[in-house]
Amino acid sequence: MIPLSFILLLIIIIIVIFKSVIKPKNYPPGPKWIPYLGCSNVVNELTIQHGSQWKALSALAKEFSTSVLGLKMGMELVVVVYGEKNIRQVFTEKEFEGRPDNFFIRLRCLGKRLGITFADGPLWREQRLFAVKQLRSVGFGKSKMEKEIQNEMMSILKCFKRYRGKPCDPQNVLATSVMNVLWTYIAGERIEEKRLKYLLELLSARSKAFTIAGGLLNQAPWCRFIFPELSGYSLINRMNEQISAVIEEHIEKHKKRLVAGSDFIYSFLEEMESKREGFTEEQLKTICLDVLIAGSQTTSNVLSFALLTLLRNRDIQDKIYKEINQILGTAPPTWSDVSRLVYTNAFLQEVYRYYTIVPLMGPRRTLADTFIDGYFIPKETTVLMAVGDLHIDPRIWCEPKKFKPERFIDQRGALKNIEHLYPFGLGRRRCPGDTLAKSFVFIVFVGILQKFEVDSIDCKLPSLEPIIGLISAPRPYSAVFTLRRN
Ligand code: HEM
Repeated sequence: MIPLSFILLLIIIIIVIFKSVIKPKNYPPGPKWIPYLGCSNVVNELTIQHGSQWKALSALAKEFSTSVLGLKMGMELVVVVYGEKNIRQVFTEKEFEGRPDNFFIRLRCLGKRLGITFADGPLWREQRLFAVKQLRSVGFGKSKMEKEIQNEMMSILKCFKRYRGKPCDPQNVLATSVMNVLWTYIAGERIEEKRLKYLLELLSARSKAFTIAGGLLNQAPWCRFIFPELSGYSLINRMNEQISAVIEEHIEKHKKRLVAGSDFIYSFLEEMESKREGFTEEQLKTICLDVLIAGSQTTSNVLSFALLTLLRNRDIQDKIYKEINQILGTAPPTWSDVSRLVYTNAFLQEVYRYYTIVPLMGPRRTLADTFIDGYFIPKETTVLMAVGDLHIDPRIWCEPKKFKPERFIDQRGALKNIEHLYPFGLGRRRCPGDTLAKSFVFIVFVGILQKFEVDSIDCKLPSLEPIIGLISAPRPYSAVFTLRRN
């Protein structure tokens, strides 16, 4: 005789399994769900086939002819939105302002859900406001920032000069420079070269480890107890500890007042001393990490893509140099020159469009039940925005697969109003570092072209096909920087 409790348990399990594959009423179209996995098996297979999750999801959206794709990844409801109207809705409506809270995100934030990028609610509002205000007070977005960037530009030029026309990998040089600027805002001083190299290597290795192990750890976090090494969990934890140690070291230096001047760490420590709620050392460490992760590779990748494009388009390089030479001569570039260098500016806008650095923006979490394009999106759903697709939408861009700076210039030769382009997002979660990123990219790019010709090695053109993980990056390449005789 089978005990009643066993039968009851069996019924409960069957109901749970049955419910887990039933889609909410009027949920957006997407693949069928199977117990436990949802449709993550389909997404994972397509990701391998297409080389990136972004492209895999685009293929699925096309297959289902939908601009709102409804998925379930493991136990998590995930919706991907396409088209400008839907994407703007997610960017700007309050219901979409949350960030998911899962094991993966906690691992990303050094174990707790703190910082800015992955916090939400009152903590996020207060900390974002504080960080933006404090960074401004130490010169972020002002002429002091421009000076800082110009100094970095000089270091980059010196570094290229040292190669004396031999091939060099610009990606490393640019990444180091961006990190120096970010670090100066956070910790008030340039970071020692060896430490900087160590930090950059750690951040890059950590981001690779997340790309490789993140999917598994997110969908089956329990596997870390059984295979801590194999699942990548121990490795990510070790890296978290190493990065934490570098940041902690600098916080300690500030506590002992060993750093001159004012910076973000000093401002934050003052709030901690006055026992302001939410201002803890853990929070400080996570914000530092947020700024380093969000700002370093993104900004240097834009510049690397810009230089890479010049290697393949000599005519564009000549046009840009002619404009710089005519308008600036040998005067060092400043951010205020951006409106005068029309073609150069249009070229950089095209770089932001053509190589969308964050092709799948978010993740956001719905804070209430809501609707997109008539489809029901339940509370607690993760929402992603396919901005990479919007930037190559043929309904918006003529010949979107072609690299054409001219599309941003009007008939009178002036820069058009920039519309339909969202490299930094929009709304209250818009990138707070966009001023720094745009100024850095413009000043350094113009500074390099003013002084150097950029060529490929022996006419061997590097691939334009990006590597697309959480962000888009160029494949490693080398270039020759030859000093111009002007
Ligand atoms: C070209 C370079 C950059 C690109 C393309 C970029 C892109 C973005 C995008 C698209 C978002 C919004 C994501 C969303 O809507 O959910 C974002 C957020 C963010 N970015 Fe940037 N970013 C860049 C540079 C920077 C820099 C230099 C910093 C630091 C100074 C920075 C710090 C942040 C932070 C902290 C957030 C989170 C904001 C929040 O959740 O409230 N970014 N970035």
